[in-house]
Amino acid sequence: MTGTDTESDASVRVAGVGMTPFGPQPARTTRELFGAAAAEAIADVGIEPTAIDELLYGNFMGAIAEGQSHQGPMAADAAGIDAPATRVESACASSGAAIRQGVRAIDAGADLVLAGGAERMTNLSTAEGTRGLAGAADALWESRAGVTFPGAYALMARRYFAEYGGDREDLAHIAVKNHEHAVDNELAQFQRSITVEEVLEATPVCSPFGLFDCSPMSDGGSAVVLASPEAVAEYDLDASVAVAGTGQGSDRFALQDRAALARTPATERAADRAFAAAGLDTGDVDLAEVHDCFTIAEVLALEDLGFYQSGGAIGAARRGETTVDGRLPVNLSGGLKAKGHPVGATGGAQIAELTKLLRGEHVNSDAVPDATVGLAHNAGGTVASSVVTLLEVVE
Ligand code: COA
Repeated sequence: MTGTDTESDASVRVAGVGMTPFGPQPARTTRELFGAAAAEAIADVGIEPTAIDELLYGNFMGAIAEGQSHQGPMAADAAGIDAPATRVESACASSGAAIRQGVRAIDAGADLVLAGGAERMTNLSTAEGTRGLAGAADALWESRAGVTFPGAYALMARRYFAEYGGDREDLAHIAVKNHEHAVDNELAQFQRSITVEEVLEATPVCSPFGLFDCSPMSDGGSAVVLASPEAVAEYDLDASVAVAGTGQGSDRFALQDRAALARTPATERAADRAFAAAGLDTGDVDLAEVHDCFTIAEVLALEDLGFYQSGGAIGAARRGETTVDGRLPVNLSGGLKAKGHPVGATGGAQIAELTKLLRGEHVNSDAVPDATVGLAHNAGGTVASSVVTLLEVVE
């Protein structure tokens, strides 16, 4: 274990969660989006905003979308607090990393921490947004040479097919599954079913991906209030879900420097640390929210989290193993694919949705009535960074 690990954290509770609807809301600023999510999370706890000791705020491209840097105090202002506030940036894993830093802040003595994030993307054109997102890749060797995120993940998909087999139809089943899961999720960007045929016949984006293999451009905010055992006792909080463990991992930044394109060791490292901290293993997990920014990303995540051997997850959705009635329901919220992917808000939304699923308060909770352990996996860029969080029902 390295010095960056968070140890067993079952004592850190998720005391409140909030998120805005995801999808195009081009007139809403990130401060409005985060402010709305934070107000919901704080109301969910039932405390005054001024009780918050610290804020960790995730955002990736506010400087591009809004010309806004120095976002920590901006987010604090939006949440109505004057506590120390810091922006955490790890591309699409920004709010997953913010929540992990929030857990560490509680370990270091804070009692109530607000963590989450927001992103505004649809005020930009697709071309501007694509250029902005490309900043999560290596600017010297990748984005400067024209690599975009659909392009980078398409390379990973093609390499996966070459090494392990599988095809576009296998990937299509993942998109179909995640759209199906979002049908009744009123916070999701796409609340409609699609068919395998529709996925295969959709407008090509970058071979092998068509439109439905990609997560969309989205606007949204998410927030979580984490509480220490002392705060749970002092405020008599109803906080039945705990952070059992978190872990973070990194990999070589540029794809060209990786040992393999169809593996994501940052996720493996993050998962190893989270499971070790929680004292749990993959067999204990009842449901997972994984980072499906492109359909292939769900496959890579499930393998490197340890749920499948390499080459084993490509057919999981097609076989019905990860569907709502499968043995490990994956992305019951709709995932990034159908719920939407406002990048800086995504990790926080995974924790918000997972918490509601575990509390029995989600529209899809009936699918997992006995679930006690949920896993969230949030990845940055081409999985150069990865955060894994394990939540557990403790009372
Ligand atoms: N899945 C399903 N439908 C989508 C979609 C998606 N990913 N993206 C857009 N749409 C829909 C829109 O809702 C719209 O539908 P409507 O005509 O019924 O209103 C239609 O497709 C056209 O939308 P538009 O925004 O013009 O699409 P586009 O062609 O400009 O962009 C992508 C499509 C796939 C290129 C864009 O969504 C994209 O770049 N996604 C990847 C984002 C990304 O890289 N995120 C970071 C991951 S690491």
